[in-house]
Amino acid sequence: MKIAIGCDHGGYNLKEPILHFLAAQGHEVLDFGTNSYDSVDYPDYAAAVARAIQRGEADKGILLCGTGIGITIAANKFAGIRAAVVDNEFCATACAAHNAANVLGLGGRVVDAPLAVRLVELWLTTPFEPRHQPRLDKITAIERENSHN
Ligand code: RB5
Repeated sequence: MKIAIGCDHGGYNLKEPILHFLAAQGHEVLDFGTNSYDSVDYPDYAAAVARAIQRGEADKGILLCGTGIGITIAANKFAGIRAAVVDNEFCATACAAHNAANVLGLGGRVVDAPLAVRLVELWLTTPFEPRHQPRLDKITAIERENSHN
């Protein structure tokens, strides 16, 4: 699978462990940075990952900031993006099974690296349950209704 990843300084601590896991699993990764603890603005990295998915250059995305919240909010402004911030195994599984989350958000100040990697693994390996498709269709309809606001 092709996976885009982006982070700000608050999520940078999780990036290398996640990259290592993704490589070990044979995934192709598009890394949009950042690449240090110098302060940057998380919306820039959310946009880069969201656009890569919109263009079909990546199948899914991973976004990391201090809480995972800001970068996920920003990603959800892009049509077709279903970004979920999670900090536990139940939600990592549910966001794939119920919400078909195509972006996973994690907080570098919330979860440690082993848990972050486990949450990525669950999200990537949990199949979507098609009974939830009508709800996703309603989300898409809302997105279309509001696209000219
Ligand atoms: C940066 O200090 C911090 O606000 C950011 O990483 C993130 O937590 C925002 O939601």
